[in-house]
Amino acid sequence: RAPEPATLVIFGVTGDLAKRKLLPAVFGLWQDGLLGSAFNIVGVGRQEMTDEAFQDFALEALKSSKETDAIQPGSLEKFRELLYYEFGDFSGDEVYDLVGKELDRAEEAHGGRKNALFYLSTPPSLFEPISNGLGRLGLADQSEGWRRIVIEKPFGRDLQSARELNDAIHRVWDESQVYRIDHYLGKETVQNLMAIRFGNSIFEPLWNRGFVDHVQITAAEDLGLEGRAGYYEEAGVVRDMLQNHLMQLFALTAMEPPAAFDADAIRDEKVKVLRAVKPIPRARVKQVAVRGQYGPGTLYGEQVPGYREEPNVRPGSTTPTYVAAKFEVDNWRWQGVPFFLRTGKRLPKKVTEIAVVFKRPPLGIFPGGLERNVLAFRIQPDEGVSLKFSSKSPGQEMVLREVVMDFRYDAFGAQLESPYSRLLLDAMLGDATLFPREDEVDHAWQLVSGILEAWDGTPAPEFPNYPAGTWGPDAADELIGPDRRWRRL
Ligand code: BG6
Repeated sequence: RAPEPATLVIFGVTGDLAKRKLLPAVFGLWQDGLLGSAFNIVGVGRQEMTDEAFQDFALEALKSSKETDAIQPGSLEKFRELLYYEFGDFSGDEVYDLVGKELDRAEEAHGGRKNALFYLSTPPSLFEPISNGLGRLGLADQSEGWRRIVIEKPFGRDLQSARELNDAIHRVWDESQVYRIDHYLGKETVQNLMAIRFGNSIFEPLWNRGFVDHVQITAAEDLGLEGRAGYYEEAGVVRDMLQNHLMQLFALTAMEPPAAFDADAIRDEKVKVLRAVKPIPRARVKQVAVRGQYGPGTLYGEQVPGYREEPNVRPGSTTPTYVAAKFEVDNWRWQGVPFFLRTGKRLPKKVTEIAVVFKRPPLGIFPGGLERNVLAFRIQPDEGVSLKFSSKSPGQEMVLREVVMDFRYDAFGAQLESPYSRLLLDAMLGDATLFPREDEVDHAWQLVSGILEAWDGTPAPEFPNYPAGTWGPDAADELIGPDRRWRRL
């Protein structure tokens, strides 16, 4: 799989995401020879800088990022030569004109093709102006090569604005040119969920209401705000994690088997299942969703400040940093099986997991209670899959104990790639399988709209309601209980 000669144009190239994730991912792909022989990067920013200064900046970013692969001798110097920089005001025309000239310049080296991938790694308020600017100057036109646009999250801030953004983007680009990025889909273990479900015959027969009691999807983060108050104060946990990453994990877990492993077959199934999820009306949010905000607490033995004490957070802020919610899927497969989703910042550790919890056996013939089997997909860290079941424990008595059968992804002995390198390469190759389509994003917004309306409309008076370093507010236990418990991770 090698892409055609192409130019990658990164808007917002001096930002945090580009520095920490994108540049290292592109460098890794290029160093491994995956980007073909003719490839260039044009960084675009609002800051005035020469090509040389940008090249220094990029090399510095590569050297300092933990995500950069081992650097082979001489490769930084060669990579440097591929880099150019343009700057300007994103609402004017000049900067797009300059980008167009860069594409003209690359054309000769690229065998006459003007293939370009435009990556919008900017604040969301710039998505539309940049898309329009590229459109005005004819840069979305595919007559001399392919043109694609990658759009970072958050894609809109609610259903209405996501629809407006989709409309605005579609005035310039055909849907087949649009790659909305959700980096969770680039994670190896998320893809492995599909591999395990649809590459084996033993799981799928159990994957339904006949056998599954409920599903738990957890994305716990130990990090706090990391200096992102400006963004997070506006977003909050529902927009930051639930609408995108968790909804994607949910859709992949609950969807029907697709007829083929291709972009439309998979995305059709994801949309189908999202459409079957019951939207939570605003009036029911209190019963099926729990919000939280962390207060000061202890994490890994150290005191950490509460959300409201983080730099640049509004005093008395009511932005939620934790959500747990119960969703139900109205279709034959899942009728009556609740899906519990939770995510939060400053929880005791970083762990993302999808746990399919099976029903108890119908009859207990041994002393003691019966446990539920659990098939758990560990997305990160310690990537792997485990199956928990009961076994006789050694001794004269017939006593059962829970044991775990474990597959660890590191058994493959390979380093897991950054999700950004997978997704960037796919976008260069024109494979949109791992990118949410317009209708998926729309349905995901519909599903969280009730929560957003209820919470934005009535700021929580009881915040903060969980200390940093704990598993979130007590109300989350009531949400899943009384007969079920969150997994202890
Ligand atoms: C990002 C969110 O999309 O995902 C961050 O904006 C969050 O707030 C991050 O920390 C989590 O990603 P990962 O890959 O570290 O689980």
